[in-house]
Amino acid sequence: MKKNLLSPVILILFGGLLATGVHAQPALKDAFKDDFLIGTALRDSQLTGENTNEMALIQAQFNAISPDNALKWKPVHPEPGRFNFAPADRYVEFGVKNHMFIVGHTLVWHDQTPSWVFQDDKGNPVDRDTLLARMREHILTVVGRYKGKIGGWDVVNEALNEDGTLRQSPWLKIIGEDYIAKAFEYAHEADPKAQLNYNDFSLENAPKREGAIKLIKKLQAQGVPITGVGLEGHYKMGWPAPAQVEAAIDDFAKLGVKVAITELDVDVLPAATQSQAAEVSMNFALRAELNPYTTGLPDSVQQALAKRYADLFTAFLKQPGVVNRVTFWGVTDADSWLNNWPVRGRTAYPLLFNRDYQPKPAFEAVLKVAQHP
Ligand code: XIL
Repeated sequence: MKKNLLSPVILILFGGLLATGVHAQPALKDAFKDDFLIGTALRDSQLTGENTNEMALIQAQFNAISPDNALKWKPVHPEPGRFNFAPADRYVEFGVKNHMFIVGHTLVWHDQTPSWVFQDDKGNPVDRDTLLARMREHILTVVGRYKGKIGGWDVVNEALNEDGTLRQSPWLKIIGEDYIAKAFEYAHEADPKAQLNYNDFSLENAPKREGAIKLIKKLQAQGVPITGVGLEGHYKMGWPAPAQVEAAIDDFAKLGVKVAITELDVDVLPAATQSQAAEVSMNFALRAELNPYTTGLPDSVQQALAKRYADLFTAFLKQPGVVNRVTFWGVTDADSWLNNWPVRGRTAYPLLFNRDYQPKPAFEAVLKVAQHP
C-alpha cells in the first residue's frame, strides 16, 4: 500500500527535477548538513567566474570556503604600509554572495611571510615590541576589514615541530612563546565573534598532538580565546590510520575545543620522502617513478582511494558534534597543490572530483558514509 502511494510521488519529484533542469547529482554539503560544513579552498584565478563548470561545482557542492593564498601575509601585506586586498575582497564577496561560511587563512605563520616583517631598515632583527606592534597592526587591519563576514580564522599556523616542541620561527625567536597568545588576543580584539583556530599538520601523531594539547591547555589557562583546532588533513594512503584520526579528535574534544579538518587531500602518488609532514618548503626533484599516472588513475588505485576516503569520513563522524567542518584543499584534482608539492610537475589525484569536473568513486564512497555511518 505504502509502496503504491510513494511511487507516483517519486515519479513526480524526479520529473520535476528534470523539467527544471536541476542537476540530480547529490551534494556533499546536503549529505553532511547535520554533521559538519563541507568546504573547499579557492585560488584567486577560480574567482573570475570564467570557468563555469568549476563555478557550478563549487556552488553546488560546498558551503564553506578557504583561500588558498589570498589572505596569507605575503600576498595581502607585501610591503610595510601596503595592503593588497583585491583578491581577498573577491574571495570574501564570493562567499557572502553564496551564503557560505568564510574562513580566513592565515594570520601568523613562518611561511609566505615577507622577511621585512622581522627586520629593521638595515636588515637586522627587530625587537619584541616592534614585532608585536607589526603583528597587531596586521591582524587588526586584515581581520577588521572582514569583521562579521569571515566566520573563522586560522590565527596561528604550524607553530609546532614534529616532536611537539615549538618551532624555532622568527616569531618565537623574537617575541618568545607568548606570540601565540598575543595573536589570538589581537584577533579577538579585531572581531570578538569570529571563531579562532590553531591549525597544523601531523597532529594525528602522538608526540606532536601532545605538544598541541599542552599549548591549548596553556592558552585556556590564560583565558586566551581559542575555539578550535584545525587538523590540516594532508593525508597519504597509509597514514594516518583512522584510529589515529579518531584519537586526535577525541583528545581535542576533551579540551572542549572544536575540530575542523581544514586542508583535506589524500596523496596516492609514490612518496618522495618518508616524512609525513606537510612542510611547504620541501622540494624534491621530479623522477619518472614518482609520477606514474600521467595518463590516468588505474581502477585499483581509484577504488583504494574511495575506500580510504570512506574510512576517513567514518572517523570524522565517530564523535558527533566535535568536527564542525571538513574542507578539501582544492575542488578538482587539477587544482591540487599536490601537482607541485613536494615534487613539481606531477599528475596528482587527491580529491573527490576529476579533471573533467566529474565525481570520482571516492565521492560516491563519501556520500555512502553520510547515509550509513
Ligand atoms: C599551500 C598552497 O596550496 C600553495 O598554493 C602554496 O604555494 C603553498 O601553500 N599548509 C597550509 C597551506 O597551511 O597554506 C598550504 O597551502 C599547504 C600546507
